[in-house]
Amino acid sequence: MSVLNPSRDRAVQGMFDRIAGRYDLLNRVISFKLDNWWRRQAIEVLLDRPNPLIADLGAGTGDMAFSAIKHVQGKIRIVGLDFSLNMLQVAQRKTSQQRFSSAATWVQGSAMAAPFKAEAFDGAMSAFVLRNVSDLESFFAEARRVLKPGAKLVTLDMFPPRKNWFAPFYCLYFYRLVPWIGGLLAGDRHAYRYLSDSVRGFHAPEVVSDMIRHAGFAKVTLRKFLNGAVCMHIAEKAGVTRSRSS
Ligand SMILES: C[S@@+](CC[C@H](N)C(=O)[O-])C[C@H]1O[C@@H](n2cnc3c(N)ncnc32)[C@H](O)[C@@H]1O
Repeated sequence: MSVLNPSRDRAVQGMFDRIAGRYDLLNRVISFKLDNWWRRQAIEVLLDRPNPLIADLGAGTGDMAFSAIKHVQGKIRIVGLDFSLNMLQVAQRKTSQQRFSSAATWVQGSAMAAPFKAEAFDGAMSAFVLRNVSDLESFFAEARRVLKPGAKLVTLDMFPPRKNWFAPFYCLYFYRLVPWIGGLLAGDRHAYRYLSDSVRGFHAPEVVSDMIRHAGFAKVTLRKFLNGAVCMHIAEKAGVTRSRSS
């Protein structure tokens, strides 16, 4: 059942608007610069078509898009969608400093009601967004709607750690130290407390795989990093486009 929650969306949007100016710095510090490595792993998945048009859902300050553009030397077009104007303004400022600046376009809007035509994209990616989305059913349905048949969706996100030797260290760092670092560097402990809480309260990665299947995707696979603390989901929109001759 679809459960849109406008007040939660407004709170999340407002929070990203507040931290936009410090978001990149905090990402690098908190993840020990691993965030960009994970993004590159995800991007590789989408590069199986020449000059693809890719949707970046919850594009934020554009790091996923810029990483993809750099990787293929501009032979890609990316439309980054986000509901936080301040995050997109940072992305826009960074665009002018990029070599292939025309490859990226930024659009403000919700990924749960994406302002794009059906079957417009050759691929879709979304990094560290799922935990923030109030209605994942609508999110995945929209991702599916805007993809061409046979196109791939790749998502990255953080998940609650499984109970093993790694979990206590992760919990100490992520639930205790990260809000403190956020307070220190971004002046917004509340936002980074939200980040910890959103991970703690999120689904298991296997549950997200089921949601993606339920939205009509096929070949859903899951790749785990850091003992499952960060996971990548890859899926394909079922159905193949008919060739013109058939
Ligand atoms: C943690 S940031 C990730 C940004 C970027 N993908 C990255 O890898 O750095 C999450 C982003 O998702 C956006 N977001 C969350 N829910 C959204 C929604 N329903 N529609 C559009 N953007 C959303 C937020 O505004 C924020 O910019």
